[in-house]
Amino acid sequence: MSSRRAFWKPARLSGLALLLALSTPAAPRLAAAQDHQPEDATGRTADRPAAVADTAMVAAAHPQAVEAGLAVLDDGGTAADAMVAVQLVLNLVEPQSSGIGGGAFLVWFDGATGTVTTYDGRETAPMAADSALFLDDAGEPMGFFDAVVGGRSVGAPGTLALLETVHAAHGRLDWPRLIAPAASLAESGFTVGPRLAGLLAGPAGARLATFLTARDYFFPDGRPLAAGDLRDNPAFAETLARIAVEGAGALYEGPGARRLVDAVATAPGNPGLLSLEDLAGYRVVERRPVCHPYRTWRVCGMGPPSSGALTVGQILMLLEGFDLPAMGPTDPLAWHLFAEAAKLAYADRGRYMADADFVPVPIAGLLDPGYLAERARLIDPTAAMATPAPAGRPPGSTAPGGRDDGGGRPGTSHVSIVDADGNAVSLTTTIEGAFGSQLMVDGFMLNNELTDFAFVAEIDGDPVANRVEPGKRPRSSMAPTLVLGGDGRLVLVIGSPGGSRIIPYVAKTLIAVLDWGLDIQSAIELGHVVNRNGTTELEAGTPAAGLAETLSALGHEVVVRDLNSGLHGIQVTATGLLGGADPRREGIAAGR
Ligand code: GLY
Repeated sequence: MSSRRAFWKPARLSGLALLLALSTPAAPRLAAAQDHQPEDATGRTADRPAAVADTAMVAAAHPQAVEAGLAVLDDGGTAADAMVAVQLVLNLVEPQSSGIGGGAFLVWFDGATGTVTTYDGRETAPMAADSALFLDDAGEPMGFFDAVVGGRSVGAPGTLALLETVHAAHGRLDWPRLIAPAASLAESGFTVGPRLAGLLAGPAGARLATFLTARDYFFPDGRPLAAGDLRDNPAFAETLARIAVEGAGALYEGPGARRLVDAVATAPGNPGLLSLEDLAGYRVVERRPVCHPYRTWRVCGMGPPSSGALTVGQILMLLEGFDLPAMGPTDPLAWHLFAEAAKLAYADRGRYMADADFVPVPIAGLLDPGYLAERARLIDPTAAMATPAPAGRPPGSTAPGGRDDGGGRPGTSHVSIVDADGNAVSLTTTIEGAFGSQLMVDGFMLNNELTDFAFVAEIDGDPVANRVEPGKRPRSSMAPTLVLGGDGRLVLVIGSPGGSRIIPYVAKTLIAVLDWGLDIQSAIELGHVVNRNGTTELEAGTPAAGLAETLSALGHEVVVRDLNSGLHGIQVTATGLLGGADPRREGIAAGR
């Protein structure tokens, strides 16, 4: 198969970031991070210690995926090689979250050159789709789940093409070696974990069971798979055997592509528009990373079509003028400021962020220090601003469009890897909602990523940047992130699932490590505070919920709820690697 890479000349550092990289000292806090007593906002001790390793580490949402990645690293593979094995095992053991029927973004750090590259494997809208895709016969937006289930929401998947592209660019081991762990596990069977079993036993399972192929697989003998059951997947084993020989062409061309398109076209009640041409034309895009300064660091991530790096970047840069390090994680003022900065950043996200290949996104303007310093003046340390906060007018923006606050659902997973050569992968990968569109073909689930588009093309006569257009990639919130020190060395790899809450999950973890000196595990465990330009959500069952009274008194409309991140991160310290895995899910971090 021909290469699916479309290259954009990589400009490695923005002028501003370059200036900062050249003029700032090395980050001093990380060396101290290991000594920190892990406590969250009101003193909770971390549930588990950070994983410790000398040179290489994998952090991901399932122990068997981590094991597969480590075995690849043991065989001399790079972080790119390990990533392929990890993703394919996740596809099998965490089928609700990610896989080759979905899309992904990857941020690559090259240990030899210190350069950062990003790969966009986001799904694309069918060429036959238009802005009426999610309107009903009366021209009204469809109900969300009416749009999700079936073929309508399925975009041309990008994950397998991304694996192939990144392996070709940065891999060392043979491709079939990387497919083998998932293939053998699919044949012999894997042990169903509590999270998958829990989803199958709940409302997500009830929805899934209405689709025949998925029902036969997830509900053998009519009952949902339970934790501890052994489940093989012969169809996926066959698919992987074809991929081992044919590469990604096994999915994008020929009989595999035909079966995928047929499944979408014949979805009962809600067929979709995906065609063989959409699959054959799919391209991974290598894009310029979005990098910005934060105090002495440089934070890099995925730009449009993701809103991740831009919105995380705005939150951090809006907070730069406040002395968060002096406040620490126990000061409610720090969380008030965090929520206020998030309101402003989400306001700009809703107005300006979408696929920049289709609509003008003022990327530099959104991270312009002067613009953000001006926006930060809207933050009052003594009172919450009313919501929704309005979007600003960043330099380079054209007339403002309609506001679209939509966000992805939490069928997503994050993988962080560092290899012995100092390369790193930050991969966030998704099929969108739990079990995606609910359609299963050849042993894997198909995404519902197109519901990440706005359902309407205009709001009050203003065009919506994230409207559906043929071939366009839906806006994402995924924020695979790398942090570099002032000397250009890698200091942190992080990311999370969580739909549009990914952004504050990642931003909080960055602040906890960089400003407060928490180790990565403690930073991940710190209770969440989320504001998406509306209510302020505090994580139930954690001391963050104890902020309710103080934040309410400042004028926040507070909601206490579960906030189910799945952060996986690796911190590079002077003495080795520290790994963190989110106890809210079932992953681990482990290394060598
Ligand atoms: N579907 C989750 C995201 O892209 O943000």
